[in-house]
Amino acid sequence: MEYQITTRSAEETMQLGQKFVALCKPGSTFCLTGDLGAGKTTLVRGIAKALNIKSVVQSPTFNIMKVYFDGDRPLIHIDAYRLADVNTDIGLDEYIGYETGITVIEWPEFIKDLIPETAIEVNITHVQDNVRNIKITSDDKELMEGLK
Ligand SMILES: Nc1ncnc2c1ncn2[C@@H]1O[C@H](COP(=O)(O)OP(=O)(O)OP(=O)(O)O)[C@@H](O)[C@H]1O
Ligand SMILES: [Mg+2]
Repeated sequence: MEYQITTRSAEETMQLGQKFVALCKPGSTFCLTGDLGAGKTTLVRGIAKALNIKSVVQSPTFNIMKVYFDGDRPLIHIDAYRLADVNTDIGLDEYIGYETGITVIEWPEFIKDLIPETAIEVNITHVQDNVRNIKITSDDKELMEGLK
């Protein structure tokens, strides 16, 4: 199933992230694709906000992964950008889909082998200035119905 939404500000994209938290099952994995600056980390900030995480979510480009335990559920934030063309066997698979947590992966194309089949795909395209087109693809009926 597929659903498309247009957001017109970073706040609106964050609100979509908040909706994801309300609708997704524990252990869900979101794969965020889109160009540099599309709004992937912005969406993760919305997810963090809904989980009552107080830490500021930065792009973990230099960490590859950051796990936030200070919210209602764990948030596992992976940015695989720097894993392009390198050996990815660094134990990330132990964290993806972690128990009751939410896993969000930026640049999932670089760790294709580690992505669960049930992952929810979110593709963000930069339309103009503050406008983004966001396409969500998932087999999770409740999530997809809830987004409408
Ligand atoms: N509708 C919108 N949705 C999301 N971000 C927006 C929107 N309009 C403007 N922005 C701005 O676009 C930028 C998106 O940056 P962000 O770090 O989220 O991108 P990213 O996809 O994570 O990039 P990278 O690949 O470098 O990690 C932010 O400065 C944000 O304020
Ligand atoms: Mg980012």
